[in-house]
Amino acid sequence: MEQQLHEYKELIEKELETALYCPENFKVVEAMRYSTLGGGKRIRGALVLEFCRVFGGNVNTALCVAGAIEMLQAFSLIHDDLPCMDDDDFRRGKPSCHKQFGEAEALLAGDALLANAFNSAAASIFLPKSEGLKPQNAVSVISTLSNATFEMIKGQQLDMDFEGIAPEKISEDELIGMYNRKTCALISAACVCGAICADTSDKNLHLARGYGVALGLAFQIADDLLDFESEKTGKKTYPVLFGKKKAVEKSREYTDTAVKIAGKLREGEFLRELAITLNKREV
Ligand code: IPE
Ligand code: IPE
Ligand code: MG
Repeated sequence: MEQQLHEYKELIEKELETALYCPENFKVVEAMRYSTLGGGKRIRGALVLEFCRVFGGNVNTALCVAGAIEMLQAFSLIHDDLPCMDDDDFRRGKPSCHKQFGEAEALLAGDALLANAFNSAAASIFLPKSEGLKPQNAVSVISTLSNATFEMIKGQQLDMDFEGIAPEKISEDELIGMYNRKTCALISAACVCGAICADTSDKNLHLARGYGVALGLAFQIADDLLDFESEKTGKKTYPVLFGKKKAVEKSREYTDTAVKIAGKLREGEFLRELAITLNKREV
C-alpha cells in the first residue's frame, strides 16, 4: 500500500505541476502553487485513482480528476486557515497561504483554485481516445465535485456555528452531520469520481460512496484526536464533546465499516490498508 500510495502521490504532483503551470508572473498563481504543490498527503487524489483502478478503469483517465480534487482540497484549506475562519498560521509544515502572501492573495488563490479545478476535470474528455472520459461521465464528475464542494462549505458554516453553542447543546448526530459535510463530502466524492472514471455500475458507485463516508468520519475523528492531544483547538470536536475514549472507539468503528466495504471489492487490499493506516496516523 505504502509504495502504491507513493506512486499515486508522484503522479498527482506531476499532474498538478502541469495544470498549475503559468508562464506569466502572477502573485496569485504563485500563492496557488505554494499551497497546492509539494505538500499534502494526497489522500483524496489517491482515492480517485484507486477507485478507478479497482473498478477496471485506466488510471490515466482519472488523473485530471485527481488533480481537480486536490485543487479543491487546497482551496478549502487556504480559506479554512484565514483569520476570519480558523486563523491558522501554519499548514502542511509551512506558513499558511495568507501568512506567506497576505490575506487578499490567499482569498484570490482559493477562488482561483476552485475555478481551475473544474477546468481540470473537464480536460479529462480531451485525453487520447482510449483514455478520454466519456462526456456524460465528465459531466457526472463535475456535478459530483460541485455538489461535494457546496456540502463542504455548508459543513464549514456549521463548524463555525458550533463555536458559539454550549457543548451540551450539540448532539452526537449533529456533530456527525457536520463532519459528513465538512470532511466526508470531498472524500466520498473522490471515491465516487474514481468509480465514474471507470464507467462502472450504480452498485459500485454506491460502494464507493459508502467507503468514502466511513473513511471520512474515521479520518476526521482521528484528526481531532491529534489536535486534542496537542491541545491545538478550542473547537467542538468529537473528543472535546464526548471524550477521548469514545472518540477512539468511534474512529475504529468507522474504520471497520470502511474495511468491510473494501472487503467486498475484488481488489480492495489497498483501500483496506489505507483505512487502517489512516486510523493509526500520528501526524
Ligand atoms: C485536512 O485534510 C483537513 C481535514 C479534513 C482534517 P488532510 O489531512 O487530508 O490534509 P492534506 O491534504 O493531507 O494536507
Ligand atoms: C478543515 O477542517 C477541513 C475543511 C473542510 C477545510 P479542520 O479545521 O478540522 O482541519 P485542520 O485542523 O484545519 O486541518
Ligand atoms: Mg482548520
